[in-house]
Amino acid sequence: MMRYAIMTLKGGTGKTTTAVSLGHGLSLAGKKVLIIDCDPQRNVAVTFGVEAKSGLADLLTTGDVDILEVRDNLFIIDSGGRKLAEVELILGRKSDRENRLNESLKYLKGCDFVICDCPPSVNMININALAYSDEVIIPIAMDYLSQVGADQTLEVITEIQRLLNNYDARFRILPTFFDARTRISEKVLDGLKERFDNQVLDTVIRINTAIKEAPWQNKTIFEHAPLSRGAFDYYRLTEEILSSFEE
Ligand SMILES: Nc1ncnc2c1ncn2[C@@H]1O[C@H](COP(=O)(O)OP(=O)(O)O)[C@@H](O)[C@H]1O
Ligand SMILES: [Mg+2]
Repeated sequence: MMRYAIMTLKGGTGKTTTAVSLGHGLSLAGKKVLIIDCDPQRNVAVTFGVEAKSGLADLLTTGDVDILEVRDNLFIIDSGGRKLAEVELILGRKSDRENRLNESLKYLKGCDFVICDCPPSVNMININALAYSDEVIIPIAMDYLSQVGADQTLEVITEIQRLLNNYDARFRILPTFFDARTRISEKVLDGLKERFDNQVLDTVIRINTAIKEAPWQNKTIFEHAPLSRGAFDYYRLTEEILSSFEE
């Protein structure tokens, strides 16, 4: 089982889109996938047009959770909305507070991939997601301000990983919102590659209107527009992630 957290400190960089599209892509490739919505905004559940009776908030407090099968081989844990924000506050006062997610999912078996869609903040839920994950995927939009946000995100993530006694920098950067018509996209991408080298994924997610439209239909990009650029890019990401497990 491979566990990913999709995280940045900036909103609107494509975290939820990546969690949903990569999750669905992997399930279409025959893998069993669980997406955990760690954001009180519930964007994963909203994308699929579902609402669970109990979600991550309940899992972390009572151990009870309603896991929904939204597609063949694709499961989600809803966040619990506002309740999750409240749980976040309670967690802060408990001992072993960074390992609550680890503890709660100890007996989870039979999944090939778990993907945590994280909110853009440094909170206990995200610290739990970091403690739980094997690797962090950091989607960075290809504009100037995002690049600044990226440095902060990387600092915080590596610092937390260090505090959690993990000295490996376990992250990969996913360039998103790439716009071939602008010089700035190219420049930001070159800058990232210079600094982070092979920690930048080969796949680049281009700006594509179909990606924006898909959630309105409660569909993923593969269902809404399977021949779009957006679908192509997320197929490619799925392949790249899968190929990192082949010899
Ligand atoms: N490659 C893309 N091209 C166009 N729109 C995108 C793309 N990726 C995401 N979006 C749209 O941008 C908005 C923010 O994306 P989202 O994945 O929700 O970001 P985050 O979870 O980081 O806040 C959403 O409306 C989404 O549909
Ligand atoms: Mg989101």
